[in-house]
Amino acid sequence: MTAFETRTLFKQLEAAVEENLDRHMAAAEDWMPHEYVPWSEGRNFASLSGEPWSAEQSRLSPIARTAMEVNLLTEDNLPSYHRELGYTFGRHGAWGEWVNRWTAEEGRHAACMRDYLLVTRGVDPEHLERARMATLQAGWDSGNKPLLHACAYVSFQELATRVSHRNTGRYCQDPIAETLLARIAMHENLHMIFYRNLVQAALEMAPGPTLRAIADEVAGFVMPGRVVPGFARKAVQIAQAGIYDLRIHHDDVIMPLLRHWRVFEAAGLDAEGEQARQDLAAALEVLEARATRFVERRAEAQAERSTGQ
Ligand SMILES: [Fe+2]
Ligand SMILES: [Fe+2]
Repeated sequence: MTAFETRTLFKQLEAAVEENLDRHMAAAEDWMPHEYVPWSEGRNFASLSGEPWSAEQSRLSPIARTAMEVNLLTEDNLPSYHRELGYTFGRHGAWGEWVNRWTAEEGRHAACMRDYLLVTRGVDPEHLERARMATLQAGWDSGNKPLLHACAYVSFQELATRVSHRNTGRYCQDPIAETLLARIAMHENLHMIFYRNLVQAALEMAPGPTLRAIADEVAGFVMPGRVVPGFARKAVQIAQAGIYDLRIHHDDVIMPLLRHWRVFEAAGLDAEGEQARQDLAAALEVLEARATRFVERRAEAQAERSTGQ
């Protein structure tokens, strides 16, 4: 798309942003983060004559701790996401209003997760703070994605975050953590619906470029948590535990959105649209094969471990 075409589409999409902002405001409950934290469990740390943190104080397993920490640090990097969204969506009109509202809502997620983890001594607070500093200093750079690419990416990313919080909550085996993360996951779902509807509107206005953006974002998707220290190793642990793996990414994140957008049913596409759809089909094949191989290898490793015991 030329810069002029992008600007025109940006203006055309503003009506959909406005409509979905209204829908979002009507659907978004004003839930209170402090209501999800067991404050009575809190106590001082060492410098206030309390007890320093140690691993046995945590009721979370090491993998649950890792997943919680990655999810929290991903949420913590909100200043970067705000900057990136502001760059693409701007500061004015309905687009700007959405960026600020979304940012305010997202701020709740890190706040209540951190409160929960500190009060319950779920993770090492010193380690967490050092990792938070490193994550924010690394920042998040989406590489100045064009408008449609940004809309496609955040659709997948909000759904990925929803699934990740929900599955982490289940894995924690603590009803308080599960309730908290289910609440956040519902919030992420509303964000996903907002972006999903924008992409839907864009598909109607500019099917070829929108399909191109979807295909590119499926092929090149990376989690925003990638800048968290030790992310590669932690993502493997999280995948091995079945909290978020390639199978889940394909089945529960990518495919539901592609089905919703009916990308393989759109008729009358131009050459750009057809090419994008072919590229998307190829990217899905690669993802499907990688997901299948990952699940097979995980099962083999588990079988080896159980026969070795
Ligand atoms: Fe969030
Ligand atoms: Fe979100």
